[in-house]
Parts: sequence; C-alpha cells; structure tokens
Amino acid sequence: MLIHRPALTRFLIERQRAGLINADLRLLIETCARACKAISVQVHKGALANVLGSAGTHNVQNEEQKKLDVISNEILLEANEWGGNLAALASEEMEKPAQIPLPHPKGEYLLLFDPLDGSSNIDVNISVGTIFSVLRCPKGLDEPGESAFLQPGRTQVAAGFAVYGPSTLLVLTVGDGTHGFTLDPYMGSFVLTHPGIRIPEDTAEFAINVSNMRRWESPVKRYIEECLAGKDGLRGKDFNMRWVASMVADVFRVLSRGGIFMYPRDARYKDGRLRLMYEANPMAFIVEQAGGAATDGHIPILDVQPASLHQRVAVILGSKNEVERVTSYHLGSE
Ligand code: F6P
Ligand code: MN
Repeated sequence: MLIHRPALTRFLIERQRAGLINADLRLLIETCARACKAISVQVHKGALANVLGSAGTHNVQNEEQKKLDVISNEILLEANEWGGNLAALASEEMEKPAQIPLPHPKGEYLLLFDPLDGSSNIDVNISVGTIFSVLRCPKGLDEPGESAFLQPGRTQVAAGFAVYGPSTLLVLTVGDGTHGFTLDPYMGSFVLTHPGIRIPEDTAEFAINVSNMRRWESPVKRYIEECLAGKDGLRGKDFNMRWVASMVADVFRVLSRGGIFMYPRDARYKDGRLRLMYEANPMAFIVEQAGGAATDGHIPILDVQPASLHQRVAVILGSKNEVERVTSYHLGSE
C-alpha cells in the first residue's frame, strides 16, 4: 500500500492557507531547504569532490574554516540573495551582515545561519548540519546592519536545521509545533516523516563534553555528579551519556528520544561556547515547540537580549524536568 506523506511544499502551502506564514516566508523556507539539499550533496561526496580539509582561513571567532564551511556559506548566500524576501543575511562565518546585491529586490525578513555546524566532524565522516533562524526586519531600514538582527529569540518567525547523517533530515518550526522531514534522494524532496515531534519530559540520558568538567561552574558539576552516581546516588537511577560533538546530531537525538544537552559556561568559555544567534536561538525555538525547555542556566534562551551578532551563550536544553532541575541548581531555588 502506498503511504501518502506530504512533502515540504504541501506542508508549507497548508500553513500559508492557515495564515501562519505568508508567501514570502514560504519561499524563504523552501529556499533554505533547497540550499540544504545542495550542501548535503557536497557533504556526501566527501573526499571524492575534494571538499574535505581546511580552507586555510579563519572566521571572525578565529576558528579555522574548513573547505565545507566556506562552500556551505556560499551555497546559502547564493540561494538566498535573489528571492526578494530578505532584507539582509548574517552568518556565523561572516563578520558583518551581507546586504542584498543589486539588482535584486529586498524583502521583509532577516536570515541568520550556521552554514555547517559540527564542522570538526567533517573529516572523520560524522554527521554535520546547517542551522537557520528567521526574524522580521525592523521597518524603514535601507541597509540593515548588526543592530537590526539584535532581537530576542522569542521574535523568531521560523527556525530549522538540517542533519547530513545516514539520511538527510530537516527539522522545522514556524510556531505551530516542531516537524521533521527526510530527504528522499531519488525524488529530491523533503518528506514529512516526523510530524509533531514531542520531547519526553523525563530522561536518563545526558550530553555534555565531560573533558571540560574541571572548568565547569558548580551547578553543572553537581548535576553531572548526581547523574554519574546512578542508582546508588540521590537520583536513584542510572544515566547514559552521549556526545556527538555536532549540535545538530545531539539535538536531533534529544528530539527523538529525550535527553538533556548542555554546553555550559566554563573557565575557558566564560559566556558559553555556542552562538546565541546562529545556534542557541533557533534550537531553543525548535525545542520549546516540541514541549522541551532551553535556558542559559538562569532564564529561557529565547528571552536573552542579544548585545552582538556573534555573542556566545551557555545552553541547557531538552527534556523539561531535567532542564528545570539544572536551572534550579543555578538559581539556588531547588
Ligand atoms: O558549533 C559548535 C560545535 O561544533 C557544536 O556543534 C558542538 O555541540 C560543539 O561545538 C562541540 O564542542 P566540543 O568540541 O567542545 O566537543
Ligand atoms: Mn555550529
């Protein structure tokens, strides 16, 4: 029997008819999805296409850029500059926002992206991905600069991420839940395979880079020590640990079966390691829409007022009850 699953195009058209998104936002999301398909092709060709290894350059955070970081950034820029729905774009790989080049018309949205998340994993053939976030551009700006983008994550109108893994997945929210699509490589279309994702409220699985333990603040140390004590400790149950070191893959696992994902502040990364605008905000929107929670240890990520485009933030996200526990340890309110 044939299984009728809607493709991304139909999913978006239905949301447009329901008044949740307009035609411009629909086109913008479809364009991002198309760019992700193109990046997926490059990622999966790997060494055959000579796309692995370093580009020999550094980004604004002085991180080494991989060839695929640069290629993915170019694919997203080229795909998005001519549609007429964007006022400007910002990327983790570019110091300043990119303007829409003439002769293309400008639109009402701002797009932010991490073109290739987890890029330290590219050369060892582990899942990587793309994360994106869409904001409305404040009115009356001719050339929107950094300040136009500095809106709390709560104002996002859409967010999504792709995972280039054993299959290519796209996870998306436009504010009516979180939905997952699998790329059918033969048809070239994203098919709705994970509608209405819900994160279980409880979990016995945590994800954190334990090699940083000596640098953590005490609330995080306390939480992980309690997990590690397992059945014999205060929690009275055993916990499992997973750490892919690609946020996209770790967050997709949390969306699939629950879990808590943390990249806390530490003695090295005093503000946290992950980027608020390109990673934490879109993931927090997606996780909240799936019934999970996301905080910086003190307040919801989505309520953090950004001060700069490339700012970093501590991230604690996933199964609601565990995120609330870690947050209460920070607030001293448990
Ligand atoms: O983009 C930053 C990132 O690659 C995330 O995808 C991932 O969660 C994290 O860094 C991995 O950090 P570490 O190298 O400390 O494991
Ligand atoms: Mn990243």
